[in-house]
Amino acid sequence: MTRDIVDVDDLTATEVEEVLSLSAELKSAQRSSAGQRPLADQTLAMIFEKPSTRTRVSFETGMTQLGGHAIFLGPDDIHLGHGEPIKDTARAISRYADFIMARVFDHSDVVELAEYATVPVINGLTDDAHPCQTLADLLTIRERFGGFDVDVAWVGDGNNVCQSFVVGSAMTDLDLTVATPEGYGISEDVRDRAAELGNAPEETHDPDAAIADADIVYTDVWVSMGQEDKREEKLADFDGFQLTTDRVGDRPVLHCLPAHRGEEITDDLLESDNAIVWDQAENRLHAQNGLLAWLSE
Ligand code: CP
Ligand code: NVA
Repeated sequence: MTRDIVDVDDLTATEVEEVLSLSAELKSAQRSSAGQRPLADQTLAMIFEKPSTRTRVSFETGMTQLGGHAIFLGPDDIHLGHGEPIKDTARAISRYADFIMARVFDHSDVVELAEYATVPVINGLTDDAHPCQTLADLLTIRERFGGFDVDVAWVGDGNNVCQSFVVGSAMTDLDLTVATPEGYGISEDVRDRAAELGNAPEETHDPDAAIADADIVYTDVWVSMGQEDKREEKLADFDGFQLTTDRVGDRPVLHCLPAHRGEEITDDLLESDNAIVWDQAENRLHAQNGLLAWLSE
Protein backbone atom coordinates (compact mmCIF):
# COMPACT_ATOMS: atom_id res chain seq x y z
CA MET A 1 0.00 0.00 0.00
CA THR A 2 1.35 3.42 -0.94
CA ARG A 3 1.18 6.54 1.22
CA ASP A 4 -0.94 9.25 -0.36
CA ILE A 5 -0.96 12.81 0.92
CA VAL A 6 -4.47 13.96 0.07
CA ASP A 7 -4.52 16.12 3.18
CA VAL A 8 -2.18 16.76 6.09
CA ASP A 9 -3.86 14.19 8.32
CA ASP A 10 -2.80 11.42 5.97
CA LEU A 11 0.33 11.82 8.08
CA THR A 12 0.32 11.26 11.83
CA ALA A 13 1.45 14.11 14.09
CA THR A 14 4.75 12.28 14.57
CA GLU A 15 5.17 11.91 10.81
CA VAL A 16 4.50 15.64 10.31
CA GLU A 17 7.36 16.27 12.73
CA GLU A 18 9.57 13.82 10.82
CA VAL A 19 8.77 15.49 7.48
CA LEU A 20 9.45 18.97 8.90
CA SER A 21 12.74 17.86 10.43
CA LEU A 22 13.84 16.25 7.17
CA SER A 23 12.76 19.42 5.32
CA ALA A 24 14.91 21.56 7.62
CA GLU A 25 17.83 19.17 7.21
CA LEU A 26 17.57 19.17 3.40
CA LYS A 27 17.18 22.97 3.41
CA SER A 28 20.36 23.43 5.35
CA ALA A 29 22.22 20.84 3.23
CA GLN A 30 21.06 22.62 0.07
CA ARG A 31 22.26 25.97 1.43
CA SER A 32 25.67 24.62 2.30
CA SER A 33 25.99 23.17 -1.23
CA ALA A 34 26.04 19.69 0.23
CA GLY A 35 22.71 18.77 -1.31
CA GLN A 36 21.61 15.18 -0.94
CA ARG A 37 20.25 13.10 -3.84
CA PRO A 38 17.73 10.73 -2.23
CA LEU A 39 15.54 10.65 -5.35
CA ALA A 40 18.19 9.73 -7.92
CA ASP A 41 16.55 8.28 -11.05
CA GLN A 42 13.02 8.86 -9.70
CA THR A 43 10.28 10.70 -11.58
CA LEU A 44 7.42 12.87 -10.35
CA ALA A 45 4.46 13.25 -12.73
CA MET A 46 2.75 16.59 -12.08
CA ILE A 47 -0.87 16.95 -13.22
CA PHE A 48 -2.21 20.50 -13.34
CA GLU A 49 -5.85 21.38 -14.07
CA LYS A 50 -5.30 24.90 -12.66
CA PRO A 51 -2.45 27.41 -13.10
CA SER A 52 0.45 27.49 -10.65
CA THR A 53 3.70 29.33 -10.06
CA ARG A 54 4.96 28.11 -6.69
CA THR A 55 3.70 24.53 -6.75
CA ARG A 56 4.92 23.82 -10.24
CA VAL A 57 8.33 25.47 -9.93
CA SER A 58 9.05 24.26 -6.40
CA PHE A 59 8.20 20.63 -7.16
CA GLU A 60 10.11 20.66 -10.43
CA THR A 61 13.14 22.35 -8.89
CA GLY A 62 12.94 20.10 -5.86
CA MET A 63 13.06 16.97 -7.99
CA THR A 64 16.17 18.33 -9.72
CA GLN A 65 17.80 19.14 -6.38
CA LEU A 66 17.04 15.67 -5.03
CA GLY A 67 18.52 13.98 -8.08
CA GLY A 68 15.26 13.05 -9.83
CA HIS A 69 13.11 14.43 -12.60
CA ALA A 70 9.63 16.00 -12.88
CA ILE A 71 7.20 15.93 -15.82
CA PHE A 72 4.73 18.81 -16.18
CA LEU A 73 1.33 17.66 -17.46
CA GLY A 74 -0.98 20.63 -18.10
CA PRO A 75 -4.68 20.44 -18.92
CA ASP A 76 -4.03 19.96 -22.66
CA ASP A 77 -1.13 17.53 -22.32
CA ILE A 78 -2.87 14.34 -21.19
CA HIS A 79 -6.17 12.57 -21.75
CA LEU A 80 -7.41 13.31 -18.22
CA GLY A 81 -10.49 15.50 -18.58
CA HIS A 82 -10.80 14.69 -22.31
CA GLY A 83 -12.38 11.27 -22.14
CA GLU A 84 -9.97 9.07 -20.20
CA PRO A 85 -11.26 8.25 -16.74
CA ILE A 86 -9.13 9.25 -13.75
CA LYS A 87 -8.63 5.64 -12.73
CA ASP A 88 -7.04 4.77 -16.09
CA THR A 89 -4.71 7.80 -15.94
CA ALA A 90 -3.75 6.83 -12.38
CA ARG A 91 -2.92 3.24 -13.29
CA ALA A 92 -0.99 4.11 -16.47
CA ILE A 93 1.14 6.86 -14.90
CA SER A 94 1.91 4.55 -11.97
CA ARG A 95 3.64 2.19 -14.40
CA TYR A 96 6.14 4.94 -15.34
CA ALA A 97 6.53 7.45 -12.54
CA ASP A 98 7.48 7.03 -8.88
CA PHE A 99 5.17 9.77 -7.55
CA ILE A 100 2.15 11.69 -8.82
CA MET A 101 1.37 15.25 -7.76
CA ALA A 102 -2.03 16.58 -8.82
CA ARG A 103 -3.65 20.01 -8.75
CA VAL A 104 -7.32 19.55 -9.63
CA PHE A 105 -10.63 21.28 -9.01
CA ASP A 106 -12.74 18.53 -7.42
CA HIS A 107 -11.27 17.05 -4.28
CA SER A 108 -12.91 13.73 -5.16
CA ASP A 109 -10.67 13.58 -8.26
CA VAL A 110 -7.46 13.49 -6.22
CA VAL A 111 -9.07 10.94 -3.91
CA GLU A 112 -9.84 8.77 -6.94
CA LEU A 113 -6.32 9.22 -8.33
CA ALA A 114 -4.94 8.08 -4.99
CA GLU A 115 -7.29 5.11 -4.90
CA TYR A 116 -6.15 3.76 -8.27
CA ALA A 117 -2.50 4.87 -8.41
CA THR A 118 0.04 2.37 -7.15
CA VAL A 119 2.58 5.11 -6.38
CA PRO A 120 2.18 7.90 -3.79
CA VAL A 121 -0.23 10.69 -4.84
CA ILE A 122 0.37 14.15 -3.41
CA ASN A 123 -2.39 16.74 -3.44
CA GLY A 124 -1.03 19.97 -4.98
CA LEU A 125 -4.31 21.85 -4.29
CA THR A 126 -7.96 21.05 -4.72
CA ASP A 127 -10.98 23.21 -4.02
CA ASP A 128 -10.96 21.73 -0.50
CA ALA A 129 -7.35 21.25 0.59
CA HIS A 130 -3.72 22.29 0.11
CA PRO A 131 -1.56 20.08 2.34
CA CYS A 132 1.80 21.00 0.74
CA GLN A 133 1.08 24.64 1.54
CA THR A 134 0.38 23.73 5.15
CA LEU A 135 3.66 21.81 5.52
CA ALA A 136 5.51 24.90 4.24
CA ASP A 137 3.51 27.14 6.59
CA LEU A 138 4.36 24.93 9.56
CA LEU A 139 8.03 24.96 8.59
CA THR A 140 7.92 28.77 8.33
CA ILE A 141 6.21 29.18 11.72
CA ARG A 142 8.62 26.75 13.37
CA GLU A 143 11.62 28.62 11.96
CA ARG A 144 10.21 31.97 13.07
CA PHE A 145 9.02 31.01 16.57
CA GLY A 146 11.15 27.98 17.36
CA GLY A 147 8.08 25.76 17.79
CA PHE A 148 4.30 25.74 17.71
CA ASP A 149 3.39 27.49 20.94
CA VAL A 150 2.01 30.25 18.75
CA ASP A 151 -1.36 32.03 18.35
CA VAL A 152 -2.37 32.31 14.70
CA ALA A 153 -5.24 34.37 13.27
CA TRP A 154 -6.61 33.26 9.92
CA VAL A 155 -8.52 36.14 8.31
CA GLY A 156 -10.36 35.49 5.06
CA ASP A 157 -11.93 32.61 3.17
CA GLY A 158 -12.32 29.30 4.96
CA ASN A 159 -11.63 27.16 1.91
CA ASN A 160 -8.72 25.00 0.68
CA VAL A 161 -5.63 26.69 2.16
CA CYS A 162 -7.42 27.52 5.41
CA GLN A 163 -8.87 24.03 5.77
CA SER A 164 -5.55 22.22 5.47
CA PHE A 165 -4.03 24.78 7.82
CA VAL A 166 -6.79 24.03 10.35
CA VAL A 167 -5.90 20.33 10.19
CA GLY A 168 -2.14 21.04 10.38
CA SER A 169 -2.70 23.38 13.33
CA ALA A 170 -4.69 20.73 15.14
CA MET A 171 -1.84 18.26 14.61
CA THR A 172 0.88 20.60 15.87
CA ASP A 173 -1.17 22.24 18.64
CA LEU A 174 -1.03 25.71 17.17
CA ASP A 175 -3.63 27.99 18.75
CA LEU A 176 -5.70 29.01 15.73
CA THR A 177 -8.60 31.43 15.40
CA VAL A 178 -10.38 31.49 12.04
CA ALA A 179 -12.21 34.71 11.11
CA THR A 180 -14.39 34.46 8.01
CA PRO A 181 -17.51 36.25 6.81
CA GLU A 182 -20.72 34.34 7.50
CA GLY A 183 -21.17 31.54 5.00
CA TYR A 184 -17.43 31.20 4.29
CA GLY A 185 -16.35 29.14 7.29
CA ILE A 186 -14.55 25.80 7.23
CA SER A 187 -16.53 22.66 6.41
CA GLU A 188 -18.09 20.52 9.09
CA ASP A 189 -15.84 17.66 8.00
CA VAL A 190 -12.68 19.71 8.61
CA ARG A 191 -14.01 21.01 11.94
CA ASP A 192 -14.77 17.43 13.04
CA ARG A 193 -11.35 16.16 11.96
CA ALA A 194 -9.62 18.98 13.86
CA ALA A 195 -11.76 18.22 16.92
CA GLU A 196 -10.87 14.54 16.70
CA LEU A 197 -7.23 15.54 16.61
CA GLY A 198 -7.96 17.39 19.86
CA ASN A 199 -7.66 21.00 18.70
CA ALA A 200 -10.54 22.52 16.71
CA PRO A 201 -9.97 26.22 15.93
CA GLU A 202 -11.94 29.04 17.46
CA GLU A 203 -14.26 30.48 14.81
CA THR A 204 -15.49 34.06 14.58
CA HIS A 205 -16.80 36.59 12.06
CA ASP A 206 -14.77 39.39 13.67
CA PRO A 207 -11.27 39.79 12.14
CA ASP A 208 -10.07 42.22 14.80
CA ALA A 209 -11.08 39.87 17.61
CA ALA A 210 -9.07 37.10 15.91
CA ILE A 211 -6.02 39.34 15.42
CA ALA A 212 -6.07 40.82 18.96
CA ASP A 213 -4.34 37.85 20.62
CA ALA A 214 -2.44 36.64 17.56
CA ASP A 215 1.34 36.33 17.20
CA ILE A 216 0.99 35.97 13.43
CA VAL A 217 -1.76 36.62 10.87
CA TYR A 218 -2.52 34.55 7.76
CA THR A 219 -4.71 35.32 4.76
CA ASP A 220 -5.51 34.04 1.26
CA VAL A 221 -7.33 35.44 -1.77
CA TRP A 222 -11.06 36.03 -1.58
CA VAL A 223 -11.61 34.87 -5.17
CA SER A 224 -9.98 31.48 -5.62
CA MET A 225 -9.16 29.83 -8.93
CA GLY A 226 -12.40 28.66 -10.52
CA GLN A 227 -14.53 31.20 -8.62
CA GLU A 228 -14.07 34.07 -11.07
CA ASP A 229 -17.83 34.16 -11.83
CA LYS A 230 -18.51 34.85 -8.12
CA ARG A 231 -16.04 37.73 -8.00
CA GLU A 232 -18.42 40.64 -7.38
CA GLU A 233 -20.45 38.71 -4.82
CA LYS A 234 -17.35 37.63 -2.92
CA LEU A 235 -15.73 41.07 -2.92
CA ALA A 236 -18.94 42.41 -1.34
CA ASP A 237 -19.17 39.57 1.19
CA PHE A 238 -15.52 39.99 2.29
CA ASP A 239 -15.80 43.76 2.73
CA GLY A 240 -14.18 44.57 6.10
CA PHE A 241 -11.79 41.59 6.06
CA GLN A 242 -8.81 43.23 4.33
CA LEU A 243 -5.46 43.01 6.10
CA THR A 244 -3.93 46.48 6.45
CA THR A 245 -0.81 47.72 8.21
CA ASP A 246 -2.99 49.43 10.84
CA ARG A 247 -4.95 46.29 11.50
CA VAL A 248 -2.07 43.84 11.94
CA GLY A 249 0.39 46.21 13.67
CA ASP A 250 3.85 44.68 13.91
CA ARG A 251 2.69 41.07 13.64
CA PRO A 252 4.26 38.94 10.91
CA VAL A 253 1.90 38.16 8.04
CA LEU A 254 1.59 34.97 6.01
CA HIS A 255 -0.04 34.66 2.58
CA CYS A 256 0.08 31.49 0.49
CA LEU A 257 0.22 33.63 -2.67
CA PRO A 258 -0.66 34.61 -5.32
CA ALA A 259 -1.99 37.78 -3.62
CA HIS A 260 -4.66 40.07 -4.96
CA ARG A 261 -3.31 43.39 -3.73
CA GLY A 262 -6.06 45.82 -2.74
CA GLU A 263 -8.44 42.95 -1.99
CA GLU A 264 -7.48 40.64 0.92
CA ILE A 265 -4.24 42.57 1.63
CA THR A 266 -2.96 46.07 0.93
CA ASP A 267 0.05 46.60 -1.29
CA ASP A 268 2.00 48.41 1.44
CA LEU A 269 1.50 45.55 3.92
CA LEU A 270 2.54 42.92 1.40
CA GLU A 271 5.63 44.99 0.53
CA SER A 272 6.50 45.57 4.18
CA ASP A 273 9.02 43.63 6.27
CA ASN A 274 6.13 42.20 8.27
CA ALA A 275 5.10 40.09 5.30
CA ILE A 276 7.21 36.96 5.52
CA VAL A 277 5.59 35.57 2.40
CA TRP A 278 8.80 35.07 0.42
CA ASP A 279 10.32 32.90 3.17
CA GLN A 280 6.99 31.08 3.24
CA ALA A 281 7.02 30.63 -0.55
CA GLU A 282 10.62 29.39 -0.45
CA ASN A 283 9.63 26.84 2.15
CA ARG A 284 7.26 25.23 -0.34
CA LEU A 285 10.42 23.88 -1.96
CA HIS A 286 12.01 22.63 1.26
CA ALA A 287 8.84 21.19 2.78
CA GLN A 288 8.07 19.27 -0.41
CA ASN A 289 11.68 18.07 -0.67
CA GLY A 290 11.27 16.77 2.87
CA LEU A 291 7.96 15.14 2.01
CA LEU A 292 9.27 13.49 -1.18
CA ALA A 293 12.41 12.24 0.57
CA TRP A 294 10.34 10.96 3.50
CA LEU A 295 7.93 9.15 1.15
CA SER A 296 10.84 7.49 -0.63
CA GLU A 297 12.44 6.18 2.60
N1 CP B 1 0.51 28.91 -2.99
C1 CP B 1 0.44 28.23 -4.17
O1 CP B 1 0.06 27.05 -4.24
O2 CP B 1 0.84 28.96 -5.23
P1 CP B 1 0.70 28.56 -6.77
O3 CP B 1 -0.77 28.64 -7.12
O4 CP B 1 1.51 29.57 -7.49
O5 CP B 1 1.21 27.17 -6.96
N1 NVA C 1 -7.38 29.71 -2.38
C1 NVA C 1 -6.49 29.89 -3.50
C2 NVA C 1 -5.15 29.33 -3.19
C3 NVA C 1 -4.13 29.42 -4.28
C4 NVA C 1 -2.83 28.78 -3.92
C5 NVA C 1 -7.08 29.25 -4.73
O1 NVA C 1 -7.64 28.15 -4.61
O2 NVA C 1 -7.01 29.84 -5.81
